[in-house]
Formats: sequence, structure tokens, C-alpha cells
Amino acid sequence: MAKVATIEIEGKKYELPIVVGSENETAVDITQLRSQSGAITLDPGYKNTGACESAITFLDGEKGILRYRGYSIEELAEKADFLEVAYLLIFGELPNKSQLDNFYTDILDQSIVNEDMKTVIKGFPESAHPMGVLSSLTSALTAFNPKSVNVDSEEEMYRAIVKILAKFPVLAAWTLRKKKGEDLLNRDTNLGYVESLLRMMFQKGTKPYKQNKTVVDALDKLLILHADHEQNCSTSTVRIVGSSHAGLFASISAGVSALWGPLHGGANQAVIEMLEEIKADGGDTTKFINKAKDKDDPFRLMGFGHRVYKNFDPRAKIIKKAADEVLAQLGVDDPILEIAKGLEKVALEDQYFIDRKLYPNVDFYSGIIYRAMGIPTEMFTVMFAVGRLPGWIAQWREMRLRKEPIGRPRQIYIGETQRKFKMIENR
Ligand code: CMC
Repeated sequence: MAKVATIEIEGKKYELPIVVGSENETAVDITQLRSQSGAITLDPGYKNTGACESAITFLDGEKGILRYRGYSIEELAEKADFLEVAYLLIFGELPNKSQLDNFYTDILDQSIVNEDMKTVIKGFPESAHPMGVLSSLTSALTAFNPKSVNVDSEEEMYRAIVKILAKFPVLAAWTLRKKKGEDLLNRDTNLGYVESLLRMMFQKGTKPYKQNKTVVDALDKLLILHADHEQNCSTSTVRIVGSSHAGLFASISAGVSALWGPLHGGANQAVIEMLEEIKADGGDTTKFINKAKDKDDPFRLMGFGHRVYKNFDPRAKIIKKAADEVLAQLGVDDPILEIAKGLEKVALEDQYFIDRKLYPNVDFYSGIIYRAMGIPTEMFTVMFAVGRLPGWIAQWREMRLRKEPIGRPRQIYIGETQRKFKMIENR
């Protein structure tokens, strides 16, 4: 017998179906609640609201589990490369050799960005934050690819996906070169996805850019770890913008803006700024822990806490280990790594953090690796965006293929009830 939940509103009972996912997560299906009872549910920040059914990413915040399409993040980070993971997320299965080769070639074929886009980027001042520039450039791509995607055509859908995967890293690299006042480079078609991103960011003049395997592997791993995280703020934004049938690029551009905030992807930049501040202040971690606990102080421990993970963030575990390895391999001795470890130790033993189940998240150690690679702090969230792109695409594709309705939440109005207009002289 199908399971139901019963809800009683003002003495009247309503039966609501219970939906169970493949990992036994339970939801009460309220799609008929308003039409039957007139009532809606209220859940600011959607802390208890499932916005969709999805087959892409599973995470269990209590147990610290994260899987893409059923594969554990630990295994993918160790054995797969970023494009393989992108394919897996978007199309549902790991690619075989020829599927991966074709995917790679199709992306290469689309990697030229229209020259007029350089005029667009030239219009920004050098002070512009790379995330603002990236969001604008992604949106501007729409002008050069005006047709909205026919989602009933698998081929058209594939072409749009390959296009954005190809052009986005070029735009990401350009945001850095713009900041540094350097020439904007095109993709080198002899290089892999990650290698070419690094070259487009760091090549100086005509001198060939020397790839460093440690840097390439670490960046590849970081991109995989960021590739999807189910219905987070930016992904929900991509899905909701796409639900109006706005194009893929417009939806992704909105996702970039959502990611920028310091409570979301912007936290990786905020973490480094915080660690620098602690260092400049003399390195007293307890002082900053106390600030974070003080409700009258707006300071929060950046890189700590997560809406879903209440035990540990499996990505943070992998990244912490990678930080030690990458810094050792690159011969970088960064004092803020020690400050970060000290801060983590103090926080994990502090009752405030224990009670609220606050642990280091993905952003806590990632910035330290980016820094060791020579990536400027303002670019950290751009790196996150490059990593998250396949997840945004996969979620957008799934939403369109499932023909989900336009996203349009309701509200409980708490403003003035009807009143008469007052002429200006009477106010
Ligand atoms: N420092 C100090 N106190 C905190 C922190 C923190 N970083 N995070 C949460 N708390 C406290 C919060 O004040 C609240 O305390 P109380 O119950 O006494 O009012 C309690 O913990 C619950 O916090 P919340 O804000 O209700 O939790 P949330 O699920 O709405 O927010 C979060 C999650 C990630 C926005 C939040 O933990 C935070 O602001 N962390 C710092 C920013 C950060 O690192 N963001 C990256 C998140 S992971 C990557 C990503 O999503 O992009």
C-alpha cells in the first residue's frame, strides 16, 4: 500500500503521498495541498523543501557521503579526470574511450570565442571582480548564440552543452588576464582541458607556458570535487532561471552570480582573506574563534559550517590531504596553512562548534592550494565556477528533459491590508 502522511488543518484531514528516493530519503508530496486545503507550506531558505527529484548527485550530510551518479567522490577524485566526470554528471554514465575522445574533440571544436567578446571585456575597468566579469561574459555569449535550445532535440542539446563547456574556461582565463592587463589568449588545441585553462591564465607573452604535473593534477582534482552538489544556491538558481525556458547560457550566467556570494562559492576567497587577517593580527586563533561565537559580532568563521553536512564535508577531507601534498611537492611553505590547521583544531574542540555541528567545508583548504599554484585570491571563485559548470549543465538538462514547470514559489503576505490612496498634500 502506498504510504501517506496525514495533515490536519483547522479540524479537516488531508492525506498526502509519501515519496521515497533510491537511498530511502523521505518526502511528503505537497503538490495537491493548496488546491485541496487552501494552505501552503512556509520554509524560508528551503531548509526542508525538496525542489525536485534528481538522479544526479546523492549526499548524506549526517554520514558525510557524496556521490555523483552513484560513484563516490573519493573514487572519482582519485581515478577519473575532470572531463570524464563532466560527461558522467551530464549524461549519466561514465564514457567509454571513444565517447570521451569524441566529447573532447567536440569541445575543442567549439573553443573559439567570438572576437567581438574581446570588445565586451575591454569595456570593464581593471578593478572589476573576475566573477562579475565572468557572469557578464557568459550572459553576453547569448548574443553570439541567440537561438534558445530545442530541448526535444538531443543533438541541439548536446551542441549547446559542448559549446558552453568549451567557451567557459576561455572566458574564465580572460577575466584574470584582463585584471593583469595582459593579452587575451585562445585555447591551444594540443592541450587537455585543464592544461589549456592553466596556459590561457598564466602564459607570459610568447614564451611557451611550462606545465607542472602537480599543478595540473591538483587543479583537475579540485574541479572534480566542485563539479556538483545537488540543489545548492547556484544550482537551484540555474534550474529556476532555466525553468522559464531562458537559454542555457543565461541560466549559467545567473548561476555564476549566485555562486559569487561569500556564503556560497565566494567563501574560498573569504577564507584566505580571513586567514591573512588572523596572521596580520598576530595569529591568535582563539581570539577569532571567540569573535565567530559572539552573536553581536558579524564575523563568521569562513569555510566552516554547511547547510547539509553535519558531520564532515567529504570534499574538505580530500582537499586537506591534497593541500599538504601539493604544497610539499611545489616546495611552498605557506604560514596560513598552519593558521588554518590551528583554527580547525581549536574550533573542533569548542562546544559552540560541536553543538552546531560546524566543520570545515570544501572552501576551507581549497584556497590554500589555489594560492600555492599561483592563482590570485580574486580568481578562486572563478575556479569554483569552472568546476561547477558540469553540475549546472547536468541539472539544467535534467530539469528541461523532465519538463519541470516554471519555478515560482508562493509567499505568506505580511504587509498592509487594503488602504485608501492619500493625495500627496495629505501625507
Ligand atoms: N561561524 C560561526 N557560526 C556559524 C557559522 C560560522 N561559519 N556557520 C553557522 N554558524 C552558526 C549560526 O550562527 C547559527 O547559530 P545559532 O543557532 O546560535 O543561531 C548556527 O550555526 C546555524 O547556522 P545557520 O546560518 O542557520 O546555518 P545555514 O545552514 O543557514 O548556513 C552556511 C550554512 C554555510 C551559510 C553557514 O554555515 C556559513 O555562513 N558558513 C560560512 C560561509 C561558508 O563557509 N560558506 C561555504 C559553504 S560550502 C561551499 C558552498 O556552498 O559554496
